[in-house]
Amino acid sequence: MNVPATLTSKPITPRLGAEVYGVDLRDHLSEVQFSAIHDLFQKHHLLVFPGQQIDAEQQGAFAERFGTPDPVVKTEANDGSYRNAVHTVTNLNDQGEPTTSMVINANYWWHSDRAYRPAGSLATMLYGIELPPTGGDTLFADLIQAYESLPESMKRRIEGLKVVHSYEFMRDTIMKLPLTDEERKKVMPVVHDLVPVHPVTGEKILFLGMYASEIVGLPLAEGRDLITELQEHATQPQFVLAHKWRPGDLVMWDNRCLIHKATSDYAVGQYRRVLRRVVVQGKQPF
Ligand SMILES: [Fe+2]
Repeated sequence: MNVPATLTSKPITPRLGAEVYGVDLRDHLSEVQFSAIHDLFQKHHLLVFPGQQIDAEQQGAFAERFGTPDPVVKTEANDGSYRNAVHTVTNLNDQGEPTTSMVINANYWWHSDRAYRPAGSLATMLYGIELPPTGGDTLFADLIQAYESLPESMKRRIEGLKVVHSYEFMRDTIMKLPLTDEERKKVMPVVHDLVPVHPVTGEKILFLGMYASEIVGLPLAEGRDLITELQEHATQPQFVLAHKWRPGDLVMWDNRCLIHKATSDYAVGQYRRVLRRVVVQGKQPF
């Protein structure tokens, strides 16, 4: 790897994550800088860039080095338009005040961003702006380690299975907010392998999350039970990394092999939690 002299990295755990120093994401990255970061991303699957000071445009430009930013489905206006690809995620209400009413929020369930798209997503970049004094961590579960640690009997049982991932399923079961007919047309259910192979590392991935609605070819209840069993396995503490946010952290992660969720273990109605997100589209097959 050709690494610029100023760019250094430190693994967070032996298998997952690295902190990256010596790069200012406000700047246009040189090809050498980008290539080094890209290599670190493929190797560690989660990168933390502490102490950044980036605006939405700079965050979008960084994301575009990796691919095409993906807009979100839910509309803020009633004109049917998508929200911007670079957008904030907060616990604030329309008056800008912290509110507990945001607890029914899909971010608190394990998921891979945009798993309901045909190509899933490559990565998410989340930038910490305002954080509670403690708590509010984002948790990441490593689906490669989760697959590796399955009993051989389970690996044989799930070999070749395919899973339906449905945005509508999540909206119905978690948000209790049924889709409109227009929204439904934009997010038809998709099918992914239950055990896809990481396109770069070749490692097998136990790919699940809150959009996983059923297993193709299995009775609905049996498929749901299997999804639940596998997801409980994948999210055990030994596979989970908790990121403790500091303002200025830019965290990017590989949605192909990690699921994540936010935590609400702080005074949600008292402290502001404001982050800025952009998701980079994936490729098929992912
Ligand atoms: Fe997410």
